[in-house]
Amino acid sequence: LGTVVTTDVVVVGSGPAGATAALLLSSLGIDNIMITKYRWTANTPRAHITNQRAMEVFRDLGIEEQVNADATEHALVGDTVFCTSIAGEEIGRIRTWGTRPDREADYRLASPCLTVDIPQTYLEPILVRNAAQRGTQTRFSTEYLSHTQDADGVTVTVLDRVTGEQYAIRARYLIGADGARSKVAADIDLPYEGAMDIAGSMNITFKADISARVAHRPSVLYWVIQPGSNVGGIGAGLVRMVRPWNEWLIVWGYDIAEPAPVVDEAAAIQIVRNLLGMPDLEVEITGTSLWGNNEMYATHLQRGRVFCAGDAVHRHPPSNGLGSNTSVQDAYNLVWKLAAVLRGYADPALLETYSAERAPVAERIVKRANKSSREFVDIFAALGVLEAKDEAAMAAAIEERKANTPAGEAKRAALVRAMELKNYEFNAHGVELGQFYTSTAIVPDGSTPPESRDADLYYVMSTVPGSRLPHAWVGDSMHRLAMMDLAPYTQWTLITGVAGERWESAAEKVARDLGMPLTAVVIGPGRAVTDLYYDWAKLREVDEGGALLVRPDKHIAWRSMGLPEDPAGALHAALTAILGRS
Ligand code: FDA
Repeated sequence: LGTVVTTDVVVVGSGPAGATAALLLSSLGIDNIMITKYRWTANTPRAHITNQRAMEVFRDLGIEEQVNADATEHALVGDTVFCTSIAGEEIGRIRTWGTRPDREADYRLASPCLTVDIPQTYLEPILVRNAAQRGTQTRFSTEYLSHTQDADGVTVTVLDRVTGEQYAIRARYLIGADGARSKVAADIDLPYEGAMDIAGSMNITFKADISARVAHRPSVLYWVIQPGSNVGGIGAGLVRMVRPWNEWLIVWGYDIAEPAPVVDEAAAIQIVRNLLGMPDLEVEITGTSLWGNNEMYATHLQRGRVFCAGDAVHRHPPSNGLGSNTSVQDAYNLVWKLAAVLRGYADPALLETYSAERAPVAERIVKRANKSSREFVDIFAALGVLEAKDEAAMAAAIEERKANTPAGEAKRAALVRAMELKNYEFNAHGVELGQFYTSTAIVPDGSTPPESRDADLYYVMSTVPGSRLPHAWVGDSMHRLAMMDLAPYTQWTLITGVAGERWESAAEKVARDLGMPLTAVVIGPGRAVTDLYYDWAKLREVDEGGALLVRPDKHIAWRSMGLPEDPAGALHAALTAILGRS
């Protein structure tokens, strides 16, 4: 190993987790090198649903407009259809991703951003481009081979796949964002629960303009119930929009216990025509691949100076659209902590909170996604097709839902219930936004987060320490800002009201004493920002003179219900505990 290059952080992987980590590091001015095995980013559309929480990360990074420019807009993502084929009978629809008016209100009230659809082939180049522009050294065709760590840093051995040469990168920290078959995670022997390859799926990408069949019921997902569509796979056959309405991806299952199917062009065309119900359709097949469904999560995400993020620590089917989103959010949780330690204002103990905070999220989303995938069986059961021996029997069972008979009526009632259940996959706002952290980087105040009437479906805003900063619109007569805009990733933010103005000087003093980026924002008439709609006053839960300490990742680290006698002392005590300096 002749050459040794040095940096602060090595990121392995340029997927959603790795590229976001690199972009965040560069945005904070932390030296980093991102290596990735292949010559470019994802070569298939893969993950696409981009939820509010991930969009907020992109907003914070100043790339929200770039993402929106390449995304299919919110209004087109959610008239999700269940059918016997795209041209066949429609069994029903469900409005998804917060597009039903009552749920849209929940989503709009909770965030300045809305769910959009952007395939990984479009998202990753945006992340990588911005990371590189802001300072990341990107090394494509560069494979992680191994690493060793010592008291001061990590030495990573990599292979330049173009020249065949190996070299070493010496860094303070290593992030393994190298996907579901993570070598970094294996090398640090992370503990996992669950199993890999529990069902078989195939992806078929193709081009065909089918606007006439879908544009009037615009959606990202069209679920197909046909013979074989509950074997393996992700619950049912799926025709997924990649670009409206002429680029598509089919997910079709197979029995993982059987030999892997051969999906040549003829087989792929047949599957496409079957799911579309268009036997003569001209299609251009652009790719096929087989993949295994996983139900596995790491229960610890770090060893010493090495951290894993993304699919490396949570492996699950695309149900609920959580893969890429959670990967982006892992990076968002980890990077500011690395920066705080590298800048010297936090003790390395802070880094352990990454695992404490994100491992429970990994478990939750892996279980939710797999449960959602399994819950499709209720639709098959409601239709009575599980026992159907052949295509004709299946068609007859589906037909029976039209009958004016007791059996038909029972079938219709069962369908209502089965469709309702799919809200847990497609409108799981509580899963998407309700990530509550418990760790030493949060100072509890004895209160507990408000109960949700259903924690998976409904997200409840709160300022209980550990919660995500609630959203409200604030600003002045010229500007409208989201609450999150007041607390950019580059700093810690103390939010108070007019009666809490003394927090301003307290924050200045504590920032100076602790050598950290910390700014107070006073919300109120005539101040930096005004509570335009009087919403913030109802959301903040603390008195006007109280304060919320917001971490760079927009979680509340500590709150003071009122104005104490010594605000600087109180703030100092809280921060030294959070940063591991007490
Ligand atoms: P991701 O897998 O995206 O990235 C891993 C990165 O690590 C890559 O850049 C790779 O080059 C790099 N890497 C791996 N080993 C390396 C090594 N030794 N050295 C250097 N670099 C290395 N999700 C969904 O919601 N809907 C979908 O339809 C699909 N479809 C889909 C298809 C296929 C084929 C795959 C592989 C995955 C999906 N997914 C998906 C899952 C989704 O893509 C996934 O959740 C996210 O991409 C996870 O992002 P990560 O950044 O963690 O890993």
